[in-house]
Amino acid sequence: MPKSLIELRDWSAQEIKNLLQFSLSLEQKSHFKTPSNVSVGLLFFEASTRTRISFEIATHKEGLNSFLISSSLGTSLEKGESLEDTLDNILAMSPDLLVVRSDDQLDQQRLSQISPIPIISAGWGKKSHPTQALLDIRALMKQNLSVPEIKMVIIGDIKHSRVASSHFQLSEKLGYQVAVLCEDDMMPESKARRLGTLEEALSWGNVIMPLRFQHERHASKSENLNVKKFQINRSHLDAMKSNCYLMHPGPINYGSELHDDVKRHKQNLILSQVESGVWIRRACLQQLLEVSR
Ligand code: CP
Repeated sequence: MPKSLIELRDWSAQEIKNLLQFSLSLEQKSHFKTPSNVSVGLLFFEASTRTRISFEIATHKEGLNSFLISSSLGTSLEKGESLEDTLDNILAMSPDLLVVRSDDQLDQQRLSQISPIPIISAGWGKKSHPTQALLDIRALMKQNLSVPEIKMVIIGDIKHSRVASSHFQLSEKLGYQVAVLCEDDMMPESKARRLGTLEEALSWGNVIMPLRFQHERHASKSENLNVKKFQINRSHLDAMKSNCYLMHPGPINYGSELHDDVKRHKQNLILSQVESGVWIRRACLQQLLEVSR
C-alpha cells in the first residue's frame, strides 16, 4: 500500500518534522521542475479556493500534469454515479496520485487502503485537513516561533472544524499546546483544554485562530449562533505581545469572527498561511510521489 496523507495521526513525529523541514528547504532552491509525465488528480467534491489553487500551483511548479474536478458539475455524478464509483473509474485510468476533498460521506481512510497510488486529503468532512495544519505550523516556524513554544487557541465552531481536528492530532505528534474557546454546543469530542473568555484566550495563547461557523456541516440550520461573541478586532491585536499572532484558515466571514480592521495588522499571519500552503503542498507531492515510485 503506498503511503498516503489522510490523517496526521498515521504519520510519525519524525516523518512530519522531515516534511516541514523539506518544505522550508524548497524555498532555498526555488525553481520550476522539468515537466514530467506524472499525472495528479485534483478532485474537489466540496468548494475550495486556497487548497485547490495552491495544489494547482504546486503541481505546476513541480512539473506535474494535473487534472481537476472542482465540483460534481460536468461529471457523471450529475447522472447519479456514486462518488465511490467515480473514484474507482479514475483510479482505473492509472493516475500517479490523487488529492481529494470530500465530506464525511466518503471514507478517505478506506480509499487510501484500497488505492494503488498515494492519496492526499485536501479536507475530509469534520475529520481532517492535514495540509492546513502543516502549513499553519510552517507559517509559525517562518516567524521563528519554535514548535514547543506554540500555544494555539482555536475559537468558535470547533466541533465542525477539520482544521481543529488536524491540530489536535498534529499537536500530539509535535508537542505544541492547543486550547479552545467556544460555546458549549461547539465543543469537540477531543479533551482539549477549554478557556472561558476571550481575555483569557488572549493572555494564555501566542496564536489566536478564530474559525468561521461552518453552517454547511451543522445538523440543524436553525442553531442559534452568536457569531460575534468572540470577534477579534484591531485593539485585541494591538494589546498582544509582538511574538503573538492572528491566524485563520479561511474562508473568513469579516464582521462575524473577525472585524475587518485586522486585515493589515502586522501580527496578522493569514496571507503567510496561504503562502506556506504552496510550499507544504509541493513538499507533500514530492515526498509521496517519491515513495510510490
Ligand atoms: N483553508 C481552506 O481549506 O480554504 P479553502 O476551503 O478555500 O480551500
